[in-house]
Formats: sequence, structure tokens, C-alpha cells
Amino acid sequence: MAVLEVKNLSISYGGLKAVDNFSVTIEKGQLYGLIGPNGAGKTTVFNLLTGVYKPDTGKILLDGQDITGKTTAEISRAGIARTFQNIRLFSELSVLDNVKAGLHNHYPYSTLSGILRLPPFRAKEREMDEKAMEILKVFDLDGEFNYQASNLPYGKQRKLEIARAIATEPKLLLLDEPAAGMNPNETEELMETIKFVREHFHTTVLLIEHDMKLVSGICERLTVLNFGKVLAEGPTAEVLHNHDVIVAYLGE
Ligand SMILES: Nc1ncnc2c1ncn2[C@@H]1O[C@H](COP(=O)(O)OP(=O)(O)OP(=O)(O)O)[C@@H](O)[C@H]1O
Ligand SMILES: [Mg+2]
Repeated sequence: MAVLEVKNLSISYGGLKAVDNFSVTIEKGQLYGLIGPNGAGKTTVFNLLTGVYKPDTGKILLDGQDITGKTTAEISRAGIARTFQNIRLFSELSVLDNVKAGLHNHYPYSTLSGILRLPPFRAKEREMDEKAMEILKVFDLDGEFNYQASNLPYGKQRKLEIARAIATEPKLLLLDEPAAGMNPNETEELMETIKFVREHFHTTVLLIEHDMKLVSGICERLTVLNFGKVLAEGPTAEVLHNHDVIVAYLGE
């Protein structure tokens, strides 16, 4: 069953068609790649999927439910989580509190019990601490749980962003260039983490990436965007041998 079905999505900024008739189907549990040159429209696709922008045309179905035109908050509750091309953490908060921020969807307590720190609030806080520590272990960040997020090395900040997104228990996780700025060792480790996250949390992942080693190492299928249009789609090895794709990246 498809977790995500996108049909004929388009958006223009002024005269520019940033995304032009984009369609994709992503099956449950798939690791799916979205690649293309700079300015191809990849991040715009994420902004459309998460409700940051409303599409001019097209339809987005999450687990069969129509989420087209919904707000970012509604889409987050429906089950899409994302990370950003430029890291967005709560940099003043601890590593643990960043993950707990992601958990809040699932651990509601009344405002009154929060303000007065009543027993239900304290019990929920304890539950959240335990759950957040479990997630941090998966990302090998449990040793740094009390560090301020901005004090982590860059590669770990990127991992923490994924940990926080996973804490919302998304049906679909969108990663916008998770390996950007990482050194080869960090990229290698990230690759293993993403694979493990898929197995451990049964998450479906859609990934934008320029690092071809990472793309070919983990993505089962790919869509290639160029000037907002789908240039190629299919199993990773086939797509990367496609002549048009090679030309789009390297020129003739
Ligand atoms: N809010 C906006 N207003 C106007 N133009 C925009 C806006 N957002 C994106 N664009 C334009 O839409 C096109 C696609 O941009 P987008 O950021 O989606 O590309 P991308 O594939 O993510 O590129 P990169 O690999 O550099 O991140 C670009 O030409 C960009 O300048
Ligand atoms: Mg981008």
C-alpha cells in the first residue's frame, strides 16, 4: 500500500514553474530518493508536501487521506515529519529536550497540570524522558543528552534533527540533504543510521540528496527532477545509468 501518492503537483513563483506536474508513489517502508541539480525544485516539493506552500494544481494523499491544502500543523499531525536543508534545532535547549519537543504530539497533558506540576504532569514528563532516551540511544546521542544542542558537533546536530523528527512517529519522514556539510565518515555513519531507522521504526523515508554515494547506497528508487519536471523515475541503478540523468548532472 502506498504511504504517499502525489498526482500532478504544480506551483509557480511569478513566471517560474518551480514544480511542474510532479507525480510520485512511495510504498510503505521504502527508502526513496529525490535528486536533481540546484534549483530543480526538490525543496519546493517538500514545502508543498508539508503545507508550507499550497500547490496551484495537484493532489497529495497520505495513507489514502487527502492532505492537499492542509496547514503545516494538520499535516504534521497526519504523519509527515521533516528535516531542513539548513539545520533547525532548538539550539538553546538540551539534546534531550529537543527530542522531547518532538514527542509532545503523543504525550498530552492539560495546561493546568503543566503549570501546577501536578502528578499527571510529572508522570508524563518521566515517560517522555524515558522515551526520548530510547530514541537518543538509537542515534548514539544518549551520552550527550544534557549537552546544549548548539554545542554538538555538526554531524551530531544533523542526527539530532532526525531523532527529533522520528519522535513524532511519522508515517513519512522527509530529509532535505541530510549529509550536506558532512565529512565522509559522518556520511557513512548517517547512511547506517537511516537504514537502521527504517528497520527499527518502520518509517518510510523520502530523501533529497546530492551525495551520490549515499543515494546509491540506501535509496531503492529515485525520481530525478530538472527544471521542476520529472526527468526520470525508477529503481536507483537503472535511473543512474539513464543518459538524460547523467547529462543533467554533468552536461554533455
Ligand atoms: N519562495 C520562493 N519564491 C520565489 N522563488 C522560489 C521560492 N522558493 C524557491 N524558488 C525558486 O524555485 C526554484 C526551485 O527551488 P528549490 O529550492 O526547490 O530547488 P532545490 O532543487 O531544492 O535546489 P537546491 O539543490 O539548491 O537546494 C528555484 O529557481 C528557486 O529560486
Ligand atoms: Mg533544496
